[in-house]
Amino acid sequence: MGTVGSAVAGLLLRSQDEIARRAGLPIRLRGVAVAHPDRVRSVTLPDGILTGDAGSVVTDPAVDVVVEVMGGIEPARTHILRALAAGKSVVTANKQLMSTRGEELLAASAERGVDLFFEGSACGGIPIIKTIRESLAANEITQIMGIVNGTTNFILTRMAQDGVGFGEALADAQRLGYAEADPTDDVDGHDAAAKLAILASAAFDSRVVSADVYREGVANITPRVITYAREMGYVVKLLAIARSVEGAIEARVHPALLPETHPLAGVGHEMNAVLIEAEPAGPIVLEGRGAGGGPTASAVVGDLIDVARNMRAGASNRIKGSSGHRRPVKEMADVVLPYCVSLVVADRPGVFAQVAGAFGEERVSIASIVQKSRGVTADVVLVTHEAPEAAMRRTLARLHRLNVVTDVHAVLRIAA
Ligand SMILES: NC(=O)c1ccc[n+]([C@@H]2O[C@H](COP(=O)([O-])OP(=O)(O)OC[C@H]3O[C@@H](n4cnc5c(N)ncnc54)[C@H](OP(=O)(O)O)[C@@H]3O)[C@@H](O)[C@H]2O)c1
Repeated sequence: MGTVGSAVAGLLLRSQDEIARRAGLPIRLRGVAVAHPDRVRSVTLPDGILTGDAGSVVTDPAVDVVVEVMGGIEPARTHILRALAAGKSVVTANKQLMSTRGEELLAASAERGVDLFFEGSACGGIPIIKTIRESLAANEITQIMGIVNGTTNFILTRMAQDGVGFGEALADAQRLGYAEADPTDDVDGHDAAAKLAILASAAFDSRVVSADVYREGVANITPRVITYAREMGYVVKLLAIARSVEGAIEARVHPALLPETHPLAGVGHEMNAVLIEAEPAGPIVLEGRGAGGGPTASAVVGDLIDVARNMRAGASNRIKGSSGHRRPVKEMADVVLPYCVSLVVADRPGVFAQVAGAFGEERVSIASIVQKSRGVTADVVLVTHEAPEAAMRRTLARLHRLNVVTDVHAVLRIAA
């Protein structure tokens, strides 16, 4: 009965008849477990079903399906495993759990021939997991690129539109309820990395866990970086990208420059969107609300309806959760991308040659260079051709050692 649970209970109670018609079976709330049973709730439940003992709900023989929306690893994991072992299907929205222990839970559901659905665990109201696992089952998915965290997208949008700094934009997000009091999980990219691990596992039929995802957050993005990006025709977004490259997987969350004509560039405020590159379907973009009680309840209750339909048809566990197969995940140092580097240099003859030399020594080729004089110093913005991240890091070390470079202001990867 938190944000998601209250919305799920509210929807189930409000739309009982419609849901029964669509599912082919009535779906009744038999028990609701919370941590604090005495707390006042926004949804009025039928008498006698609220308890502080989640175990009693999970083991109740009259319960056919368990919905887990308490969050965290334990006791959620144990409750789910107990439910599956007892032959009950489970619906969860728990991204932390699915992005770390998803494999174990999917194997347990397969063993018992019951369903474990988790649409709400990645991107709330956007039907992305069903799209990948069902609608695109005939395709080879080569890339997923998403704006999957509403908090950071709100912050970057506010910075770009109003020229405010990160701190002010974050405070606004907190005031409006888009950011938690402790925003670390969102701002540092942990939330996006967990969602990407879930999406990549589904898209590439391989086990990808949160710890496999390279991660950088948005706290270092400044209004100046956003302004330079705009002058070059880019927007700055926190992107979650997973690619299938020559038998390996790339999985990374970091701020990146997107050409302003890119389908994800206009996705602003707290909205989320995911671009799927699939063969033969081609590119597909899904955009919507990636968090919040209502959107996540849409995913959770949609999964519940699927469970009911499968039970009715005697066809649970139709879709194999995972083959358990694990493709290597590339080290970030080996990922090959174009970069944009913004420097402050001494404004005098010969400086350009030294800067270009640092790139040349590491065989990082420069695609364009723009200089703006500020008197004693000049701002230089360089865009490179594709280069391995390791070579780019060595180039930056060389730039830091040059006396003529007073500041390496920003280094951003370019997504295309
Ligand atoms: N919020 C979103 O927008 C969103 C979107 C997508 C996915 N999710 C996922 O959905 C899950 C729930 O998120 P939320 O935002 O709804 O969290 P929340 O508001 O903190 O709600 C958690 C609920 O679980 C209950 N609970 C916690 N520990 C319990 C225990 N040991 N036994 C019984 N009940 C327990 C709490 O009870 P009390 O109310 O009594 O404290 C509360 O009702 C998380 O896995 C989250 O990642 C959330």
